[in-house]
Amino acid sequence: MRYKAALFDLDGTLTDSGEGIIQTGICAAKEKGIAIPDRAQLLRMRGPALIWSFTTLFGTTEEEALELIRIYRRYYPTVGPAHTTVFPGIEEMLRTLKNAGMRLFVCTAKYDVQAKMLCEAFHIDGYFEKIYGTGDPELHETKADIIRRILNERDISEKDAVMIGDKDVDMAAGKAAGVDTIGVRYGYAAQGELEGQEPTFLTENPETLTRLLLEDPQKAKKGLFIVFEGQDGSGKSTQIRALSQYLEEKGREVLHTREPGGTEVAEKIREILLDPENKGMNATCEAYLYAAARAEHVQNVILPALEAGKIVLCDRFMLSSIAYQGYGRELGVETVRQINSAALAGLEPDCTFFLSIDPLAGLSRIHRREPDRIELEGAPFHERVRRGYIDTAREDPKIETVDTTRPKLEVTADIIARFEKRFSDIL
Ligand code: TYD
Repeated sequence: MRYKAALFDLDGTLTDSGEGIIQTGICAAKEKGIAIPDRAQLLRMRGPALIWSFTTLFGTTEEEALELIRIYRRYYPTVGPAHTTVFPGIEEMLRTLKNAGMRLFVCTAKYDVQAKMLCEAFHIDGYFEKIYGTGDPELHETKADIIRRILNERDISEKDAVMIGDKDVDMAAGKAAGVDTIGVRYGYAAQGELEGQEPTFLTENPETLTRLLLEDPQKAKKGLFIVFEGQDGSGKSTQIRALSQYLEEKGREVLHTREPGGTEVAEKIREILLDPENKGMNATCEAYLYAAARAEHVQNVILPALEAGKIVLCDRFMLSSIAYQGYGRELGVETVRQINSAALAGLEPDCTFFLSIDPLAGLSRIHRREPDRIELEGAPFHERVRRGYIDTAREDPKIETVDTTRPKLEVTADIIARFEKRFSDIL
């Protein structure tokens, strides 16, 4: 959960009192024999700006407006609540938040008896630990004072609380009391009113508000971790460059990295691993060395980049160990997972593109340079590696198998299309 306690403004945030205000205004005007304006004008009425509402919308003098306000106050306790409703989705939101263990409060500038009455009338009072309003009018409490009183009485620290409201005054009060603020756009705020107060968050409706409140920013990974896998010569580097260029054109910051390697120490381990001189290396030792390089890479490169909101494109990751050490060296998937468990620190790719290629065709593509220790392995080894990739890809919905027998540009278009399908929300 993002916060431990949520403080809700009442009118315009939980309840929709617009119609109650209009109907009370009509009663007052009728009693004084003042003409009722048309519906479009009536919809502009605002409870906290009654003088303005009567003089501008009903066309009264200031004196008449003051008289109307006196009558309005007499009618409001009966007429107002009868025409007030709870915004759609509010009950569901309160239920979800309460079930998640969030402490909920009403924090309104209304008199607290009135606020309690309204909440009881709509059967939402049970969701709140307490309903706070102004108790004693002599105290001249501001909304910020009420927030401070709640934090104090309920022993809640400022960083654990958030003030949620539909007006600039709610945002300003939250800020003054030192808590985060969330502005809701479905209430009565005028265009730009909430933005002017720079709330911590703005939200559209009770559903998005619920998600916002429950989301844990500690766990929320801002970046995206994309891995490219495939046997030697499958064209991973070309495709990573192409996706990287596409993402950068979309304005995203991209980090291109590879395994084994990516840090100074990991590059040294890489040299040991790929050096043909180390031909007889024990398979378990090999698995540990890949995992050791991975631990460096995850902690020093990948996690910080994700934390900074970057898209990490990584040439090989854990799936290489499954395929090469698990299947190729026949250590078994479970052993390889165990060896890697601490190195991964819980990190998993958001998506893996497995560039599928016949291993012998792949190896023939790389004969432009000296083969490394792994590439020097015989065909049966590379066939087992391929089996490892195929078996794992079949089981894991986050692995996209890409056919690389097509022209490079076609492969790129395919990868981009699949990326867009999966991550359209972040582009
Ligand atoms: P590299 O030159 O990076 O291969 P490529 O250019 O084909 O990606 O060499 C990495 C080699 O290490 C490659 O043959 C696959 C192997 N490898 C493993 O066996 N296990 C692993 O966990 C990783 C990351 C790579």
